[in-house]
Amino acid sequence: MNLFDVYPLFDIAIERGKGCKVWDEKGQEYLDLYGGHAVISIGHCHPHYIDMLTQQLNKLGFYSNSVINPLQQQLAQRLGKACGYEDYSLFLVNSGAEANENAMKLASFYNGRTRILSLEKAFHGRTSLAVEVTANPKIIAPINANGHVTYLPLNDLDAWRQELEKGDVCACIIECIQGVGGIRIVSREFMQGLRQLCDETNTILICDEIQCGYGRSGKFFAHQWYDIKPDLITVAKGIGNGFPMSGVLIAPKFQAVYGQLGTTFGGNHLACTAALAVLDVMESEHLVENADKVGSYLIAELKKLVGSYHIVDVRGEGLMIGIELDIPYKEPRTRLIKEQHCFTGCSGTNVIRLLPPLCLSMDEAQQFIEKFKQVLS
Ligand SMILES: Cc1ncc(COP(=O)(O)O)c(C=O)c1O
Repeated sequence: MNLFDVYPLFDIAIERGKGCKVWDEKGQEYLDLYGGHAVISIGHCHPHYIDMLTQQLNKLGFYSNSVINPLQQQLAQRLGKACGYEDYSLFLVNSGAEANENAMKLASFYNGRTRILSLEKAFHGRTSLAVEVTANPKIIAPINANGHVTYLPLNDLDAWRQELEKGDVCACIIECIQGVGGIRIVSREFMQGLRQLCDETNTILICDEIQCGYGRSGKFFAHQWYDIKPDLITVAKGIGNGFPMSGVLIAPKFQAVYGQLGTTFGGNHLACTAALAVLDVMESEHLVENADKVGSYLIAELKKLVGSYHIVDVRGEGLMIGIELDIPYKEPRTRLIKEQHCFTGCSGTNVIRLLPPLCLSMDEAQQFIEKFKQVLS
């Protein structure tokens, strides 16, 4: 059997990792400014993470959601405290798309409506409703195009107001920093205005923090830069440092109903252990603060280069950074890997996207800038 060939691959197999470095099968070292697509939060192969998962694997790998799992309860408490949402509830699932599906389902159960407002260039996943709210017609199959969604421009509050005032919108779903969309950031006025409009129209506000959350922006959640509270927050990627896991943080106004939501694998013992280990390390190594410090440095240094090295704009918060070029990213990104041994992400056609582990050091940030200059000089 062959693999279903949907990924354009670099001809490299990554075999092992440590912190912000990975090595290929030939022993070549790479600096990782990509974090396996924003997934590696505490760094590759952190010893505490390995210890906790090994111990749990020796005790119990899995049992079902029909019995108490104290690890889920611990995680809910620890996460509530870490992010400042102790009064919210946690529903655990397995992937970002699944978290968004469940968030939109909860919103619709809550107000009985079926329309969703989403941002132009949004990305929320590839399953049925998650892909329908993703503003990319190429990945929406006819069976997913069910007319639930209106896409609206970034930061154009009047356009959102016009739709919300019709009184039939179930939910607004927003990435406060768009990832796939090219590191486009919502404004404070927009987010605060949207929160108010949602309150006035009984519409649910969902913040998709799958890429921009979990410390990446330099606060636990990116929406916390705007002093607003969403009704539902979705998390994935960094929560398990590579262990597939996701969750929905749910405001107290939602009532849990037996059987309304569910999953076989969600919140299993290994996943919860991974997530607890991640929170331990995030706290003990102050990784949210590190993302803010090292990210601010990287952004400031890169901004100094605007107008040279093909850079036209630098956008981002913390360790979620977009470098917009006046040329396609393809060649420099490939040369960064092949010649400078450095992984980065990308968006659209011209944006290099940085999503490193949150433990990136100042020294590694400087190394990246040198490598970048080498390739783009
Ligand atoms: C903002 C955002 N939402 C949702 C998803 C989907 O997550 P998953 O691939 O785990 O389903 C992604 C993945 O890149 C994402 O960046």
